[in-house]
Amino acid sequence: MKIWAIVLLTAAAVCAKHEKYIGWKSYIVQPSTLEQVKALHLLEPTLELDFLSHATTSREGVVLVKPEHQADFIAALAKLEVEYKVHAENIKEKLDYDDFLIERRNREIRARNGRSLPYDNYQTLEAIDAYLDEIAAKYPDTVTLVEPAKSFEGRTIKYLKISTTNFEDDSKPVIFIDGGIHSREWISPPTVTYAIHKLTEDVTDPDLLDNFDWIILPIVNPDGYKYSHDTDRFWRKTRSTDQHTLGFFCPGVDGNRNYDFAWNTAGTSNNPCTEIFAGSKPLSEIETQVVAEIMKTYLPRMTLYLTMHSFGSMILYPWGHDGSLSQQALALHTVGINMAEAIHERALPNFPRYQVGNSALVIQYAAAGAAEDYAHSLGVPLSYTYELPGLSRDMWGFHLDPAYIPQVCEETWAGIIVGARRSRELFG
Ligand code: ARG
Ligand code: ZN
Repeated sequence: MKIWAIVLLTAAAVCAKHEKYIGWKSYIVQPSTLEQVKALHLLEPTLELDFLSHATTSREGVVLVKPEHQADFIAALAKLEVEYKVHAENIKEKLDYDDFLIERRNREIRARNGRSLPYDNYQTLEAIDAYLDEIAAKYPDTVTLVEPAKSFEGRTIKYLKISTTNFEDDSKPVIFIDGGIHSREWISPPTVTYAIHKLTEDVTDPDLLDNFDWIILPIVNPDGYKYSHDTDRFWRKTRSTDQHTLGFFCPGVDGNRNYDFAWNTAGTSNNPCTEIFAGSKPLSEIETQVVAEIMKTYLPRMTLYLTMHSFGSMILYPWGHDGSLSQQALALHTVGINMAEAIHERALPNFPRYQVGNSALVIQYAAAGAAEDYAHSLGVPLSYTYELPGLSRDMWGFHLDPAYIPQVCEETWAGIIVGARRSRELFG
């Protein structure tokens, strides 16, 4: 009797998760002209659309639509003659399935080697934090744990400095990698923690330690990350409530619109309830301030900055606010291609090939205040946004199936290695 009560209660609790998404649907949209891409963007505010991956003329997008807007959305697509297909009839069901995949993988890993790692499955914030603590304790000669600030909700933001010379050799280029600024993009932190693994626990390329200093920040936005695990799977922004009078109804700022470069000039919104709210001012968020501080501190030596997002299989470089090219466009493009080629060599055949190019031109929308533009504006010569591979027609859930995490980590690491080495050749 008692046991049944517990089983029923647990089942009810599990099913109660993702309840917000009952009746929501997602659609795959494939515009074929730039006009259609633009028109889709114009629908965003009125139909409260949420693009999980952006549609371009050469890559389909996935968009979440609330029940009350679905009929209008379909009508608008028909009028625009944009090709579409339902991706998920019932989003809650897919989210439950995603949870099941993670659980099942955890069980498999436990059965195999007893321990599930941040680059082996999607993990909680606590597990990722614990991994950083553990690596710092285990490799005190090369690793320093830094806790630069507390997030808006008071969580400790953590990053690792990895160096064989305690960051004292001024001739070494500094490589900075961050992830998890958009909290729902769960494949981002594993690729960043995998870099930590390859620089400490499993060093196969010693030149990466001999010749470089590394700064690795797996979760820029811990509040959002936690919220995406516990409460709302599709949470993208920070969780700040002090940016406007509606703060408590519509918390959060899009971190990747909050940086201090061409701030709030394109692809942003002043409406705090949208996913692309730029904040009340540039660098209003403590989370983006932390990233900005790191960039400024190591600026003279920082040759490469990578910020990990999903989805899309794209390597994007400045300027993303207007699609113009920087003085370093040739280097940005060639190194971008070098990284993509290294990834292709190890990629699975069912994954799309990476596209490389100017942010605004490749994703076909301009967006200002993004991290890669900001780093470049400060003077980091090679600065990129990675849109990691993921959601696609033949995938079932909303995150990349966790079984693919090691694959994505390995291929992405191949890209990172090449980026680091090329950055040293060109700018070291
Ligand atoms: N998906 C990313 C975002 O919307 C792309 C950022 C690209 N970079 C840029 N400078 N616009 O934040
Ligand atoms: Zn993102």
